[in-house]
Amino acid sequence: MTIKIFDVGTKKEINKKIEEVKFEERENYLKGEHYMLKEILEQQETVKKATEQDEQKLLETAMEILRAKNVIFTACGTARYAAIIGRYLFSKIAKKFSEVIMAHEFQYFVDSVDKDTLVIAISQSGETADVLEGVKKAKENGAKIVSVTNVENSSLDRISDKIFFLNCGPEIAVASTKAFTGQLVVLYLLAFATIYKIQEGKIKLKEIGDKIKSIIDKDILKELSEKLKDKKDFYFIARGIDFAIASEGALKLKELSYAHAEGMPAGELKHGTLSLIEEGTTVIAICPKDYTYEETLNNALEAKSRGGFIIGVSDEGNEIFDVWIKIPKVDEIFYPLLTIIPLQLLAYYLAVAKGNNPDKPRNLAKSVTVK
Ligand code: G6P
Repeated sequence: MTIKIFDVGTKKEINKKIEEVKFEERENYLKGEHYMLKEILEQQETVKKATEQDEQKLLETAMEILRAKNVIFTACGTARYAAIIGRYLFSKIAKKFSEVIMAHEFQYFVDSVDKDTLVIAISQSGETADVLEGVKKAKENGAKIVSVTNVENSSLDRISDKIFFLNCGPEIAVASTKAFTGQLVVLYLLAFATIYKIQEGKIKLKEIGDKIKSIIDKDILKELSEKLKDKKDFYFIARGIDFAIASEGALKLKELSYAHAEGMPAGELKHGTLSLIEEGTTVIAICPKDYTYEETLNNALEAKSRGGFIIGVSDEGNEIFDVWIKIPKVDEIFYPLLTIIPLQLLAYYLAVAKGNNPDKPRNLAKSVTVK
């Protein structure tokens, strides 16, 4: 086959090198189930595969993170929620403050980007136009670009100074699941590298990978989805490291079930959203038994006393939960890798219960290559 590339403006042929990108055979990949479910269930493996990173590269990047005047994450959608967890990990482990900016807004802030800025771009596809645009502008201003992506030879791969791949295989379903956990693993490793604890980090992450299987209780989530399928509004609350999980849980649910869903820091509930809680409104409180537990529970109670139906995702039950989704106890910083799993499954089963195709939600694209 001959491929020719033309400039749309001048209509003249341009000389570009063509590279072939090989993907795994999809035929063997899916046997009668949705890609999304397969990808959710693969995540114990994803976590392990994503730990296979070059340690020297992790260390070098960690030193760049510590030396940089500003560290800025840029991403869209699910990848941005991974970035928000990265920000927490850098603060908690590396004691380094960083900022997360939505890729489509990044270009408006490049005035403060210079050669002492390190940009960490996260993109499953490596092709999201907004991410590429922001990265290019930051590069023009002299910033260093480190990227986390799943696709070799993607545009992001080609314009970055350093790149970390997720090694989790192609993600086919539009809604991102295993790429999210893969992105988190790379960010954990970078944070551990700043304190020279890559090995310890890898061991812990593999242990967490093993726990993922134990929390996949499809029956509970299927049953719950049947109960919730006619609900119009869902509010997800959490604090600290799990705040991004509340947002990601809401994103998954709205992408697939077409219901209104919002994720927010639990402390924000009383600054507006509480007025929307009435008899039977669903509130999903992600409240692992860490230092945020009591406060998140208090916020859930504020919703409960207005009639809210409370679903608690936690390692400790509580009488205020109408439904308790149990997860195992782990160190505080690792909870997101576990709390996200039942929320992905809930979104999946809600879509199925409503007759939607979870692999191809309406109006959405896997990779948004236009601005
Ligand atoms: C689209 C997809 C989302 C994804 C986002 C960012 O909106 O539907 O699932 O999170 O793009 O994609 P990226 O490939 O940059 O991670």
